[in-house]
Amino acid sequence: MRPYQVGRQLADVARAHGLDPGEIVKLTANEGPEGPFPGVVEAAATVLANSNRYPDNDCWDLGHELADQLGVEFSNLMFGAGSVALLDEFGTAMGGPGTNFVYGWPSFIMYRFVSLWGGAQSREVPLDDAFSLDLAAMRQAVDDDTTMVIVCNPNNPTGTIKPADEIEAFIDSVPPDVLVVVDEAYHEFVTDPTYRTEIPLALERPNVVVLRTFSKIYALAGLRVGYAVARADLLTELRKAQAPLTVNQVAQAAARATLGLPDELDRRRNLNEARRHHLVGALAEREIPMAQSHTNFIYFALGEEADDIIETMTAQGVLIRGMGGGWVRVTIGHEDDNRRFIEAIDLARRR
Ligand SMILES: Cc1ncc(COP(=O)(O)O)c(C=O)c1O
Repeated sequence: MRPYQVGRQLADVARAHGLDPGEIVKLTANEGPEGPFPGVVEAAATVLANSNRYPDNDCWDLGHELADQLGVEFSNLMFGAGSVALLDEFGTAMGGPGTNFVYGWPSFIMYRFVSLWGGAQSREVPLDDAFSLDLAAMRQAVDDDTTMVIVCNPNNPTGTIKPADEIEAFIDSVPPDVLVVVDEAYHEFVTDPTYRTEIPLALERPNVVVLRTFSKIYALAGLRVGYAVARADLLTELRKAQAPLTVNQVAQAAARATLGLPDELDRRRNLNEARRHHLVGALAEREIPMAQSHTNFIYFALGEEADDIIETMTAQGVLIRGMGGGWVRVTIGHEDDNRRFIEAIDLARRR
């Protein structure tokens, strides 16, 4: 087994290529290019002085505010140190000898690790020709030993979405003793009217949980806060596999301060959409094949030269992520980042 690769450290890249770390454009991890929402740093700083105390294990203040915003009960929420931590805990709860987990592929790489750590076999179901989840094939992959299915909507790394009615028909077709995790890490970026959150379904069904994160549009990736929404009875079971006190108090305060700023959320969504539109146009002009993104990243093909192109771009201080098979993923950055990305890719492809 190989450990998860978080990508090269900026200082490392800078040293290797004689660059100043400040001039490196990191477009590898689908982070927000802007800092936290207004007022968040100040709110987080005020709780640092209480660092001698353990954090609130229930995330009471954050949880009540978020419950109000989502229109759910506090008991419908479970927090983790990033949604990855929650996924890991669900894998621990649902895995074990003889079990398998079903998910699309390519999808979020951590699903593979979560299966391994949980002691479950991975069933990776290839995406369809439009780089979207093939829900019919995923249904076929579910058998008597399947205990968890992960539906990544929008899907990382392709940025594609599935309409809500198709997701709901899929969930209806899965046996009710199989946990269905709908990973909505990029939910807030989507503007397409066929897309909808599965939170209402999760509140009804005993086997559905929706995962969200503060790491993407909310720009708190460095503080590690994610949450799950489900029926309280399901969360009571899943919590049995959770280590206590994993969401620290700085993260709780920051996440709470991020809520209640809908204008800022809209601003970031609109900015991302405009920037994505620009980048998609630039890639299309160059006749570079790509998947239809609804998120803050784009999945596109560079073919056999992908690794060389990535290396040449890295030497120029522009980092994107190779996904295998000649495909790569770029995170949408600031206008300046995006300009550097286009310049670097042009230069690297001409070589
Ligand atoms: C689909 C998906 N789910 C979950 C996560 C993890 O986010 P977090 O930072 O909350 O652990 C990511 C991060 O890249 C992701 O792409």
